[in-house]
Formats: sequence, C-alpha cells, structure tokens
Amino acid sequence: MGKILLALIMLTALGMGAARAEDAPRLDRSDKTGALVVGDRPFLMLGGELGNSSASSLEDLDALWPTLDALHLNTVLAPVSWELIEPEEGRFDFTLVDGLLKRARTHGQRLVLLWFGSRKNGMSSYAPAWVKRDSARFPRAEDADGHKMESLSAFSKTNLAADRAAFVALMRHLAKVDAKTRTVIMAQVENEIGMIGAARDHSPLANKAYSGDVPAALIRLARESADKSSALKAAWIAHGEKKGGDWKTVFGADARGEEIFQAWAFAGYAESVAAAGKAAYALPFYMNAALIRPGKKPGDYPSAAPLPHLLDLWRAAAPSIDLFAPDIYFPNFSDWAGRYASPENPLFIPEAGHAGAATAPANAFFAFGELRAIGFSPFAINTMATPAESALADAYKALAGIASLILAHEGSDQMRGFRAPVSFDGEPDLSPQTVTLGDCRITAQFIDPWTERDRQTPANHGALVIKLAENEFLFAGAGVTFTFEPADGAGRAGVLSADQVDYENGAERTLRRLNGDETHQGRHIRLPPGAVTMQRVKLYRY
Ligand code: DGJ
Repeated sequence: MGKILLALIMLTALGMGAARAEDAPRLDRSDKTGALVVGDRPFLMLGGELGNSSASSLEDLDALWPTLDALHLNTVLAPVSWELIEPEEGRFDFTLVDGLLKRARTHGQRLVLLWFGSRKNGMSSYAPAWVKRDSARFPRAEDADGHKMESLSAFSKTNLAADRAAFVALMRHLAKVDAKTRTVIMAQVENEIGMIGAARDHSPLANKAYSGDVPAALIRLARESADKSSALKAAWIAHGEKKGGDWKTVFGADARGEEIFQAWAFAGYAESVAAAGKAAYALPFYMNAALIRPGKKPGDYPSAAPLPHLLDLWRAAAPSIDLFAPDIYFPNFSDWAGRYASPENPLFIPEAGHAGAATAPANAFFAFGELRAIGFSPFAINTMATPAESALADAYKALAGIASLILAHEGSDQMRGFRAPVSFDGEPDLSPQTVTLGDCRITAQFIDPWTERDRQTPANHGALVIKLAENEFLFAGAGVTFTFEPADGAGRAGVLSADQVDYENGAERTLRRLNGDETHQGRHIRLPPGAVTMQRVKLYRY
C-alpha cells in the first residue's frame, strides 16, 4: 500500500497522473462540411433530448439515467430553465445544472444545454415570476389588435438585458465548473423562437421600429444574397429593389414583409444574448426552429424563426450562432434536413421526431451518411418504455461502432446514405436510388424482396455505405437491398464475398460469411428489415 501511495504521489508530482484538460469544443469549418470537434477529435453526436420538464428536479435526473444508458447515446440534450436558475433577480441557483454535469460525467456522456430563456416555442413561459409579473418593466409583444401576448417583446432592451444577464451567468458558471472536463459541448440559445398569432409584434416599441428606416446593412444583404430561397431577396425585388425607406416601402406591408422585420429583431436579440454568452465561455451555439406545415402563413407557423427562407438574414445578423437546426417532426425528414445542410450550416437535428418513432434509424443513417450531419437527437428520449430493445438503441449501437469510419469519410465522395423520400402526407417515394462510388454504381432498393409487402414499412428502411478500399464496401442499416454494376459499363460486377460484421469502438469483428440465399446466390446485398446489420462486401468484375 505504502509503495503504491508513494508511486501515486510521484506520478502526480510529475504531472503524469492528472488528465490533460480538453480544448474547448468547436465547429471546424476548415473542410467543406464542418465538423464538431470535441476533445481535439471529430465527434459524431448520437443524442437524445430530454422532455421539457424531465430535468427539473435531482430525483427526476436519477430516475431517467438508466434509460439514457440503455440507448447507447453519447450526448444528452437537457433544458436549463431561466425560472429555475434565477428565481429572484440576480440570485442564481445552479443546483440542477451541477446535478446534470455530475450524472453525465458518471455515465460517460456529454451534454448539450438548452437555454430556455425568454423564448420557448414562441412563448415566454420560462421567464421567472419576477419577470412575468412586471409587464410594465418587461413589456409583452402585442397582436395586430393591440392585445398583449404571452411572449415578451423582442423590442424591449429591458427584456433583452434580463435574458442576456441570466444566460451570461449560466455560461460563467460553466466556465468555472466545466472548463477542464468539457462535459458540455454545445448550447442552444432559446428554444424555437418565433411569433405565434401574428407575423410581427405590434407593441408600441415594435410599431416605432416598424415605422423607421430599414437598416442599410439589411438592404445590402438583400442585394447581395445568393440564397435562392431567400425571402428577403424576393420581397426586396418584388417591391422595386429600393435603396432605402421604411419597412413597408422596402419589403411590403404584407405578412412576408412583416416577417422579415420581426426576423431582423429576433436575430439581433439572439445575437446579443449569444455574443455575451460566448464572451463569458466560448462554446458552439445553435438555435432550433419549428418548421412549417404546408399552406401556413407567418404567425400560423412561428413567424420569423431561423427557417430556410430566412437563413441568409439570420446568419448575417446573428454571427455568434454557429448553426441553425431544424426540429423535424414531419414525415418529410429528408426534405427538411436537406434544406438545412450546407457548407455554411452543418446539419444538426436536435429534435429528430419523438423518441420511439420507427423512422429514427433510417433518418439517422441518411443524415450521417448522405447529409454529413454532426448530430442526431430524438425528443423526449427519457420516455421510451423499453429503451434497450428499441430500434433507436439498435441503430445507435451500430453507429457508435462505426463512428470513426463515418467521421473519416465525411466530406468525401466515398460515403452515401439512403432512405426513401417521404412526402408531408407520409407517402414514400420507393423508386430505387443509384449512386456512384469510385468505379462502382450501386442501386438501393427500399422494398425488401424477401418480406411480404404488407408486412414491411419501407418508409422505415435506411442505410449507409462507405467505400473502404478498392472494390470493398461497408453497408450498414436495415431494409435496403443493393445491386452493383461497373460505373464505366464494361462487363459486370459480382459479389466476391459478403461478411456480416459488427464493430466495437471501431474494431471490426466478423460474425459470419453470407452466401447462397443470403446474397441471392451472389446477385445482391441485402440488409434485412427489422434490425440494423452490417456487411463488409468485396466485389469483382467479370
Ligand atoms: C418542440 C420544442 O422545441 C420542444 O421543447 C417540445 O415542446 C416539443 N416541440 C414538443 O413536441
């Protein structure tokens, strides 16, 4: 015992026993896609978001961790509520935040903290009582008829200052308690910001701003934006490409123009909160957006949120926000995810539908394999009844095993993801999809050939493929069948070998050789529906 103790003391004295403090998590934009870097290495976030009220007591936290462990996730997205951390003005209580940190560390998980400040799903329900009760000091937004709304006006400097001060206090606290361990890897600024019930705020403060001149910077942005879906550019062109004037003159008096006005205000507000937070503790920040049902107008959907048609404006006005993220609850996952994924805006889906949705594995394989997502995270993850047996746990286990392979191939043309696109009404397009990887053309088919049609749901089928070496591929997923041909059309491509494999921390293990019926006598590679499997496949030409 004495010797061990002495050795420990010497190691510590030499600085060898202490773990090196990690560098700050960051978004690396040096390549085309942008990667989340955690502990100096690219990180593939397999996440899950807690329900809104699931992390509001220490007892609750203890109760939910077994579920989180069973899901193989590496990151928990957890709310931090303004009303709970600042129950009295200027008095902060970080008991719950510290409880989250402690539990995440014990369980080897990272955290993304969600700042439920003055904006939560278009409302302000997370503002503390001392804010809610004092609407003279903390003014409300108003609708077109002058009725007070639940949400705090974004045009009030007092509202902004109070929200910002609380967020800064949170970030200062993290700087104190987490700068060495780096358990928290990102923070979400506000939650689903937006105006519900009106395209813009009509309070006296807002009306005053609305009758003023449009800032020159915004007109310049409208002129210079190359974003084809830009509402800003479209409204500016539609109203005569004015060089200046008030908001109605430059962008029109309709809801589209009002939305631009409100988005500029929200983005400025969020930027002020985020910039001050970043100065206190520099983490990657993002904002999430509620999406739009077909045919809805600004105000029916949360107006002025960081939605695809407003992203050029948001990016310019809120540079301290590193990325904008879709909360995708609609069936047309690939459509929405594709509209957010770009070199300027790496894809992160903080709310990838409700936990337990059967589409989650297909969506995750598609997001990581095809859209180079940095993270994927279903909502209310703690509510899953049988997490260990869930399709999500199955998919996350496989994805965790091959995370280093995925990260190594992101941004290259050696990896592709597949799932059938689904319409908003839930109708999948089951046409086969063909991609070319090197000198091989691969066709994916979503209807499983060996399962009766009425016993399968092809909209839940998805996979990814990684080219590992010349004529050698890794397939991972469920319910997708692949056929092959030489890209140059010369001769034919056959299956030389197919091995079912699994991965533990990046190390591959061969489970069995597949042939005969399992490869349709060498005609295809099939990932059966129902459970995620992986195959290492070698091809040859004949
Ligand atoms: C989206 C919000 O961001 C979440 O906090 C939660 O309210 C869900 N909607 C509920 O479905």
